[in-house]
Amino acid sequence: MADLKIELTNIEFKNPVMVAAGPPSRNASMIKKCVEGGAGGAVSKTISTVAAEIPKPCMAEYKHSFLNTELWSELSPKHWIEKEYKEAKKCGAPLIIGLGYTTKELTELIPKVEKFADAFEISTHYIGRDLTPVINTLKAVRVCTNKPIFAKLSPGIPDIEELGKTLEEIGIDGLVAINSVGPCLKIDIESGLPAMGSKEGYGWMSGAAIRPIALRHIYELAKVVNIPIIGVGGVTSGKDVVEMFMAGASAVQVCTQAIVEGPQAFNRINKELNNWLDEHGYDSIDEIKGITIEKMKKRESANYITNVPKIEKNKCVGCKRCVKSCVYQAISMVDDKAVIDETKCFGCGLCVTRCNTNAIMLTNQASQEYSY
Ligand SMILES: Cc1cc2nc3c(=O)[nH]c(=O)nc-3n(C[C@H](O)[C@H](O)[C@H](O)COP(=O)(O)O)c2cc1C
Repeated sequence: MADLKIELTNIEFKNPVMVAAGPPSRNASMIKKCVEGGAGGAVSKTISTVAAEIPKPCMAEYKHSFLNTELWSELSPKHWIEKEYKEAKKCGAPLIIGLGYTTKELTELIPKVEKFADAFEISTHYIGRDLTPVINTLKAVRVCTNKPIFAKLSPGIPDIEELGKTLEEIGIDGLVAINSVGPCLKIDIESGLPAMGSKEGYGWMSGAAIRPIALRHIYELAKVVNIPIIGVGGVTSGKDVVEMFMAGASAVQVCTQAIVEGPQAFNRINKELNNWLDEHGYDSIDEIKGITIEKMKKRESANYITNVPKIEKNKCVGCKRCVKSCVYQAISMVDDKAVIDETKCFGCGLCVTRCNTNAIMLTNQASQEYSY
């Protein structure tokens, strides 16, 4: 069994998969369920100085993704301070307290909740996309507490590397990337109205669909900062955790998958992570951190060599998914097994990613060099 323990800013986590700020951490009872379900740590739902009034409907599942229009906690800070944080502290996992948004709100809240916090996660979601206000807010927060501070970044900030470097310089202990993506629109075609109850009808996207966006942010940040990055956005499986670590994450968070699957998602994800590490001969999760960054240093240019995939016949189940989607018409069925015509194959790689049984593989030298 590989070692999944991690340490962030001197805080020990039994595994790297935390529950993110959101409905699965909306109160102490849900946090407890997530920790019992295997979460290595918890970020409590973001609170602000007043309880949020949340427009409804506020959540919808949407093909490999999820929309929400939740703002911050619908529970008041008073309620969190008197009840929820105390209970959440008893759950046996590190508690990172989620806070938002303005300097005034944050500096008012921190002294009141500090005694419950192992660390803080400051959401920059409503501060905007300009770097200066985000940096100024975090500077003000930094002088307010000696506890570790993680800054949660929203996608779409134009110069994420610059922001990451400056936050490190001003003493922020870690970065959390990313918050949900948007705004987005989903329409209920029976009513013709947006699925979300917000004033404009917009929502924010999370879930598997946003993982590539999250990975790009993690990867860019990890190349320029030394502080830990907590990856969040579309983690649904142990392999997704592997991907985030390879991009440079030191831990991950899960929100949407813990909503749709329930808190037992954490145990499953950790089990899959463990299996993957064992199968690939790694003793600890730390060994895979930043692998992609290292490999990309050696890859100087894009690869223009046509890489004709190979098919392992015994794994091919004859489903024709690859045949149907080959726009180069290079794949046909022979005796119920897929066969590739090397003269037609463009090496686009799509069939490799469409095959459900891993029967199709890229095997030429270039791909081996960059595969793990
Ligand atoms: C319904 C819902 C509510 C959320 N509430 C918060 C919140 O209060 N504070 C915050 O920083 N992020 C919040 N998020 C964003 C998540 O923490 C996370 O960054 C995002 O959903 C991407 O991760 P996921 O794909 O695992 O859900 C919320 C997400 C959802 C789906």
